[in-house]
Amino acid sequence: MSQRARIVALVSALAVVVAAVVGYELAVRPSATTSTSASRSAAPAAPSQRPTADAENTPAGDSSILVVYFSRTEGVYGGDLTVGNTARIAQMIQERTGADSYEIVPLADYPSDYQETTEVAQEELDADARPEIRDPLPDVSGYDTVFVGAPIWWGEYPMVVRTFLDAVDLNGKTVIPFTTHEGSGLGNTQQQLEAQYPQATVLDGLAVRGSQAADAQPDVDAWLENLGL
Ligand SMILES: Cc1cc2nc3c(=O)[nH]c(=O)nc-3n(C[C@H](O)[C@H](O)[C@H](O)COP(=O)(O)O)c2cc1C
Repeated sequence: MSQRARIVALVSALAVVVAAVVGYELAVRPSATTSTSASRSAAPAAPSQRPTADAENTPAGDSSILVVYFSRTEGVYGGDLTVGNTARIAQMIQERTGADSYEIVPLADYPSDYQETTEVAQEELDADARPEIRDPLPDVSGYDTVFVGAPIWWGEYPMVVRTFLDAVDLNGKTVIPFTTHEGSGLGNTQQQLEAQYPQATVLDGLAVRGSQAADAQPDVDAWLENLGL
């Protein structure tokens, strides 16, 4: 089976599982969704879920490390979240390293439904689209290390992350991918960074299963320590 066929099979399987779980929750355990979201709301807040003003999404420039990430709380496999899976990992990296952060927020939001999001994402992938980013891009010139994190979509960085990668020059810097996923690991994110920035030093990335993002601090710490950060 080709890699593309495997990804199609994986995403289709995810959709079936989500439909089964959601159907079960609604039909059999109507209160379960409520209690899940109640316990999730006790989780720590993300650094910036949806910044409303440009200034809130402008890195301070205090650090030589920048964490760039894209993450969603709706249309996510397994149901809505209070904090996006990738945002959680970004926050852990930021807290541990004292890095600045920048959230990639698409100008046009994706559907709030998971299945619809997978369809829009596939259309964007097929069209090699570059969806617009809402906020001004950060000035990356002062950073020597840049983490680029995202959920895996169809085995790759979501195309809005490609918009970001096309718009900034990370050559000459240390660039490190991180992802959350439901089976694809890092997908082709590391290869994407290597292809995009031949003069960058691309270090080994971290892939965390989305459902385990909240408990990933030890893995994040060990990974950062391994990288010498
Ligand atoms: C459009 C779309 C495509 C996805 N494709 C994959 C995939 O190819 N492989 C995989 O392991 N997970 C896939 N997933 C699952 C997400 O990577 C996973 O749920 C992730 O943790 C979501 O993170 P976020 O909350 O930061 O957006 C996909 C999810 C969506 C919405």
